[in-house]
Amino acid sequence: MRLNDLVPDVSSFLDNYWKRNPALFKHQIAPESWPDFRVENLSEWFDKDQPHHIVLYKVDNGELFQYDLPILADGSLDMAEVIDGHYNDGVSITINKLHKRREWARSMATDLLKDFKPFGYVTVGTNVFVTPPNSQAVKAHVDPHQIFVVQLMGTKRWLIGEDRREIVIEAGDVFYLPKGCLHEARTDEVTSIHETLGIYTLQDVEETEREEPKEGEGDAK
Ligand SMILES: [Fe+2]
Repeated sequence: MRLNDLVPDVSSFLDNYWKRNPALFKHQIAPESWPDFRVENLSEWFDKDQPHHIVLYKVDNGELFQYDLPILADGSLDMAEVIDGHYNDGVSITINKLHKRREWARSMATDLLKDFKPFGYVTVGTNVFVTPPNSQAVKAHVDPHQIFVVQLMGTKRWLIGEDRREIVIEAGDVFYLPKGCLHEARTDEVTSIHETLGIYTLQDVEETEREEPKEGEGDAK
């Protein structure tokens, strides 16, 4: 995935939004462009022997909870328990570092890095976030790197910036979030699955490693 796939006009994007302003690009990518993400086949998106790539978060009454992973006797993730015991109770599922473990995500990240390397960026990381209906994964926060959000399935309602401007992101939309821009997001009546492409300078990577991970985006390596 190159920058000209994510935005309709690259030079206009770089002049008006990059490192400055959030931007929503509607219907930018055809949903056929990515694998079939559904809650029922989530176990295809992580390796059985590496359950630590999954993180379980939920905001409940304004408080953030992170849940221990249910692990089976053979060391693999108990996916049935993740779905029945957590997801169905409003817990969001984060799948980290897909660019390290799935070819389509790796090529998406390495292709996008080609466009940002000339500007001094060193890493593009890819994570996927699955949020059940009427839920919120994490509280309002800023991330110390540039982010593109690609909505893969469903919709999600975001509150952006200090003025908490509301936007709704639908499948096929691309949303650009500059480094340091306050944001939070929650679902309404449908499940949301989105992918983030985090774009890091070396300094961003070091800064991220010092901070507590948020939404799993903090894992840049
Ligand atoms: Fe974030």
